[in-house]
Amino acid sequence: MPIKLVTAVADLRAESARLLASKGGASQGLVPTMGALHAGHAALARTAVEQNDVVVASIFVNPLQFGDATDLDRYPRTLEADVALLEEQGVDLVFAPSVDEVYPGGQPLVRVTSGMLGEKWEGASRPGHFDGALTVVAKLLHYGIPGAGLPASEMNQGGLPAYRAYFGQKDAQQLALVRRMVADLNFPVDIVAVPTVRAVDGLALSSRNRFLDEDEREAALVLSRALRLLEERAKSREPLDLESAQALVESQPLVALDYFDVVDPDTLDPLAENCRETPFGGEALAIIAAKVGPVRLIDNMPLRS
Ligand code: PAF
Repeated sequence: MPIKLVTAVADLRAESARLLASKGGASQGLVPTMGALHAGHAALARTAVEQNDVVVASIFVNPLQFGDATDLDRYPRTLEADVALLEEQGVDLVFAPSVDEVYPGGQPLVRVTSGMLGEKWEGASRPGHFDGALTVVAKLLHYGIPGAGLPASEMNQGGLPAYRAYFGQKDAQQLALVRRMVADLNFPVDIVAVPTVRAVDGLALSSRNRFLDEDEREAALVLSRALRLLEERAKSREPLDLESAQALVESQPLVALDYFDVVDPDTLDPLAENCRETPFGGEALAIIAAKVGPVRLIDNMPLRS
């Protein structure tokens, strides 16, 4: 069936309910995006298609999560190519609302607060970013509840459909926050993390990579190299020696390091004891952020011994 594009919440609900009923479906997946899609988003969509009977992807550039109006204006809008990519992965329905559709009363008065988890790392350099992101994710998760567009008489026949939403491991802090929001506020959805997709040379795919020139792109490779170094040390249960990995990043003149640390994957609190002399054991997450030329990049690597 060809992919369908809707822009109104009511149409999203009606159309996804119709699809679910026509496929006799027992599960629905939601892939929230801001568009400018690349192979990383394709992996999210593909995973959702493999695991669900009906898949909805949203494309919405959320003004609430941009601190700077210039960044919001500069964010690439590539709707036609995005819809084609989603169709190739087998997505059923694209929801691409206007700002007025999502925020009909203007900026919302009541928002989701990301709390202490949202203030560190990325939150420290982008104040308000995660409150804005969580607020729109909460709305999108509600719009996408399967069966919400069905008449009451047709609801709940054969039990509630399973509901899953897909987020990239690349945005590790956003993922941790979405998991906490869903757990803390009892949203009826399972959050599925999809591993980061990398270019063959190791650079994590990001819609920001398009702003790197050739030298900056080459310099940016030091981020994934440093993460791989820690990954290898963790696998072989060596001390991580974070300092030497940091020095590697700092030796690259085009890269200005913001943070590089080893943290608990859920709380994102630093695990200092794992970084120096002690052999690495257990699970952790290495996180890094740096400005490469004018472009701020983030990356991370799950560590397992
Ligand atoms: O990761 C993104 O693309 C955005 O932050 C999201 C989750 C779609 C919310 O706007």
